[in-house]
Amino acid sequence: SRIKIGVLVGSLRKDSFCRKLSKALKEVAPESFDLEEVEIGELVLYNQDLDEPDNLPEAWTVFREKMRSYDAFIFVSPEYNRSVPAVLKNALDVGSRPPSKSVWGGKPGAVLTASPGSIGGFGANHHLRQILSCLNVPTMQAPEAYLGNIATAFDESGNLTSDRTRGFLQKFMESYAIWVGKNR
Ligand code: FNR
Repeated sequence: SRIKIGVLVGSLRKDSFCRKLSKALKEVAPESFDLEEVEIGELVLYNQDLDEPDNLPEAWTVFREKMRSYDAFIFVSPEYNRSVPAVLKNALDVGSRPPSKSVWGGKPGAVLTASPGSIGGFGANHHLRQILSCLNVPTMQAPEAYLGNIATAFDESGNLTSDRTRGFLQKFMESYAIWVGKNR
């Protein structure tokens, strides 16, 4: 059966470049991979007071159950003020509790950051790696993915027009397939 990959996008913006990248990743993924974008915008901000059986927000429960159904994860994120956008950090926090039931532990991951600027979200990429290290997500080291000048990679309808970027994404997914095979 196909390997289920949850793709978490660190932007809620309708025309998000990261969302477009997540679609492009799906196009270049191997046949055996089923990539699914995960909704993280509905999650109430993490608060330990809510994390009790009587208070649990429905959206947290749905999210946690959904995350358990994936074999591996890919994080596609922009950089906000040199770090991880709050919406993505919140999703990671919600999925991490209670620690004995964390949805992340042991499932292979990969990080791809992008920016219209030239640094390609380097700061967010490495802050995210620190979080994933804490969450025991074996995260692919190479190829590193800092996609700069991302605004020029798509046409008006959001299709990837840059062959260079497509080639990179292909290489990225090939390496990730090997990584998932080793770490599942
Ligand atoms: C940004 N942006 C940004 N870009 C960057 O390269 N480094 C940064 O530190 C920041 N900081 C930042 C903070 C906040 C609050 C916003 C809203 C934006 C610009 C960001 O890369 C740009 O808006 C991207 O288009 C966001 O990604 P999506 O939504 O296109 O996926």
